[in-house]
Order: sequence, then C-alpha cells, then structure tokens
Amino acid sequence: MTVDLSPTMPRYYVTTPIYYVNDVPHLGHAYTTVACDALARFMRLDGRDVRFTTGTDEHGQKVAKSAAATGLEPGAFTDQVSERFRSLVEAVGAAPNDFIRTTEDRHYRSVQEIWRRLVQRDEIYTGKYEGWYSVRDEAYLAESELVRQPDGSFRAASGAPVEWVAESSYFFRLSSWQEPLLRWYAEHPDFIGPESRRNEVVRFVEGGLEDLSVSRTSFRWGIPVPDDPEHVIYVWVDALTNYLTSAGFPDEGSETYDRFWPANLHVVGKDIVRFHAVYWPAMLLAAGLAPPRRVFAHGWWTVEGQKMSKSVGNVVDPFQLVQEYGLDQVRYFLLREVPFGNDGDYSRAAMIHRANADLANDYGNLAQRVLTLIQRNCGGAIPEPGPAAAEDDGLLQAAARLGPELRPLMETQQMHAALRALWDVIRAANAYIDHAAPWALARTDMGRCQTVLSVLLEVLRRVAIFSQPFVPVGAAAILDQLAVPADRRNFSDADEALTPGTPLDPPTPVFPRLAS
Ligand code: MSP
Repeated sequence: MTVDLSPTMPRYYVTTPIYYVNDVPHLGHAYTTVACDALARFMRLDGRDVRFTTGTDEHGQKVAKSAAATGLEPGAFTDQVSERFRSLVEAVGAAPNDFIRTTEDRHYRSVQEIWRRLVQRDEIYTGKYEGWYSVRDEAYLAESELVRQPDGSFRAASGAPVEWVAESSYFFRLSSWQEPLLRWYAEHPDFIGPESRRNEVVRFVEGGLEDLSVSRTSFRWGIPVPDDPEHVIYVWVDALTNYLTSAGFPDEGSETYDRFWPANLHVVGKDIVRFHAVYWPAMLLAAGLAPPRRVFAHGWWTVEGQKMSKSVGNVVDPFQLVQEYGLDQVRYFLLREVPFGNDGDYSRAAMIHRANADLANDYGNLAQRVLTLIQRNCGGAIPEPGPAAAEDDGLLQAAARLGPELRPLMETQQMHAALRALWDVIRAANAYIDHAAPWALARTDMGRCQTVLSVLLEVLRRVAIFSQPFVPVGAAAILDQLAVPADRRNFSDADEALTPGTPLDPPTPVFPRLAS
C-alpha cells in the first residue's frame, strides 16, 4: 500500500470502538485499547499531532436489558460500568485524549445533527421494519444470514439469538449507496485493512444493499429522533457518530474538527467491520461528510484454545492479568504474539514464555549486563568511545535504521513486525556483547572495552526510545538509567548521542522473570 509520510500531514486521529457497557471489560477490550495506544504513542513520539479516543457505547436494547437485570435505572447502571472501562484505560497504560460516553450532551447534539442532515438530503424515510434482530449484536439480519439450529430455531452467525421484530421505523437509503461505496473502495485501496477483510466487504456490497432501519420504537433507551421522540435512533448510528462527536462535530468551524476530521484510522474487531466499512462511510457520504481514511480490523483472542465466553467461565479479566504479569508484559504479549489482523490464542504458558524469553532474557538482560559493566569497568560513567570497528558500525547502523524501518510498519498497523524489527537489534546486541566480551577486554584492552560499551549504550538508548510505545514503563526505566532527560525521548532526539562522562546510577533490573 502507499504510505503517506509527508510532513505536511502531521496530524493523526485514531479511535478504538466504544465499548458496550452491558458487561465488564475483558481481554478483547484491552487488546484494541492497547493496540491504539501503541499507535498513538508512536505517532506522538514521531512528532505528529495526535488525537486518540476511546469510550463507552451506552444506549440500545442490550444495555437497557442488562440495566434492568440489575434493577438499576439505565443511567445509574451505565455510570457504573462506564467507570470500569475508564479504569481499564489506565490499567493498560493507555493515554487517550478523550474518553467519550454516548450519554453525554455533546453527543446528543452531534447525533441529532447528523440525523437532521440525512433528513434534509432526503436520505431517510419512514416505514415499518419487519424482520430479524439480534440484540446481542444490535444488528438487523436477513434470513439468509441466519443459521438454523438443531431444534429448528434460528441464530445469528455470531451464535447470538435473534428475535422477530415488527415496528414502525425510519429507514436510511443504504441501497442507493452501493455503487458510490464500491467506487470509494476502488479509489481508496487502503480504506480497509487487512486485505482479506477488504475483499470480504467488497463482496458483501457487490451482493447488493438493502435500506437500513435506523430507529426503534419498542424501547426508550437511546437518543430520540429530532421532532419524533417516539423513535430512538438505532444504536449503531448513535455509536458510530462518537468518532465525529469527539472531533468536535457539529462545530465544523472549530479548530479540533478542522484538524482531526476525517479520522486517520478506526481500529475495530473483525466482528464489526460491516458497520464501520459499509454503513458508516455510506452515512457520512450521504450527510455530505468525509469518511475516515482507513478502517483496520483485528482478529479475536481465544483462551487456552477455547472461545472466550461467560458460559464457559473463561473470560479473561485484564485488570487481573496486568496485576499478575505486569503492564508491559501484557501489552507486549498482545502486540507481539500474533500479526495484527489475525486471530490469536491467549494462554498462561504463552504469556509467561513471551515475557521471560523476550522481555526478561533478551531486553532486560541486555540492559542489565551493559549497565553493570559500566559500573564495574568505567567508574559508573558513560565512557569515551575510541575508533569504531566494522562490527561496531554494523550494529550501530542497524539501531540507527529503527526509525525508518518502524515508521511504515506502524503506518500500516503491523505492530508485531515493528516489535520483530526492534528485537532483531536487541538480539544482535546480545550476540555482539557475547562476541566482543567487554569483561575480558577490561583486563587486556581498556580502550576497546570502552568503545564496545559505548556502542552498546548507544544501541540500548535507541532501542529504549523506539520501544516506548509498546513497553512504556520498562522503556522509561531504561532511559532513566541511561540518564536521558525526560524531554529528550522523542524520535527526533534519537540521533543525539549520550555525553561521555555522564555518571550513571547502579542499574536495577527492568523486566523481571515471571515464575511459571
Ligand atoms: N459497541 C460496539 C462498538 C461500537 S463502535 C462505534 C461493540 N462493543 S463491544 O464491547 O462488544 O466490542 C468492542 C470490541 O471488542 C470489538 O472491536 C470487538 O471485536 C472486540 N472484542 C470482543 N471480544 C474479543 C475477543 N475475544 N478478542 C479480540 N477482540 C474482541 O462492538
């Protein structure tokens, strides 16, 4: 794909889906948040003007039902659960610019405005919906999409139960957007990633689109249709609009809106691609607004080989995970274990293996070894390097290439590949230290010993700078131990070498080994 790295487009707006507050956060939610946070941190460190948003999807029948089951009013219920999602953001070390709730006034205004525009442009008409609906997926389904069960009943392909709905409803003229959408996909080959999802979406749209029911009358928990409060706006229309609301819509003249819309990237799970890559761009085009630049769908996690589900009782609690294994360890595992876009399996053994092999052994040991040798052999200060040998240059250059290598990978959401590139340098540094044996040089050739350690410090510094988006806690600790000032840790500072003579504190281990 083509990658736009032009310095005239420095802003970057990335979003997570907003999470349903029908239940508490699980591993899947933590995954999208961590992935977007790593992207946002990377772009910030690279000097981009970043907006990263997340939040909670609080309306609709599913949430109303969950609230009723607890005996709480929907508003009180969503206040409670939304707070858990806010805590999750913190627990996984994410730093969004906004946490949006669909129950906020700013969002009501935004959703009602987009509705009015669709009405003005004759994109919405009244009718009656008669058909299947899955409350769990909050989706209208054609009979052809249902799966017949052994007992003769129907379910959605996701396994969710469906119910027959017959109620008066407003409709969006989605069918008339089939051709414009296909044109949009053709003219914007990067609009949907990965490629397999793109093909799936194009095939779906080529198969024909039906008008979409966009209001409900059988319950009240939602944003009312302007001038017709008997109807609440379909929860997906409400939810998708969060991306606009957070960017300042409907204040189109506002600085935020001008700066950040259209979004650069919506990261979503594979189950909600259709909403983001079909309904959403159609709605935006119909309302005269620009669609986002890209929608990327990640895969799903199973747990110890099984689908994660409440009934199986294997739902992974991300708070517990972070507490048990550590924040960096969880982030690293999620981003490294599978190529972003593929499904993955979480297991305790895999988690511990990743943390120990890659973080404790490769990265942590490298830092500890180098910094300990500095204490022992260089009087605890950054040494003055002598002339570089060929093997020094090879390693230094590999580390200096990290920026140019990582940039296109992160621009295309290949976090696993970015981590692989970082670890190639870490492993090369470990091989270099084993081969150069600075502890032996300390007895035979002090000048060469200092050069080797100085090369290693430089490589460690670059690795630490570029690993900040992924393992922010450990990377910061290493940069502290290298005495790199907190305001000199951006990618643009990467070429600024350490100053010989700077004293360094005795090291403390950064990535502990986990007990299996
Ligand atoms: N509220 C909608 C999104 C609206 S965005 C305008 C929603 N919410 S959700 O809470 O059900 O799901 C949020 C995200 O979690 C989705 O992207 C979904 O794919 C993801 N995951 C849910 N279970 C997951 C796994 N087991 N593994 C990975 N991601 C998973 O959908």
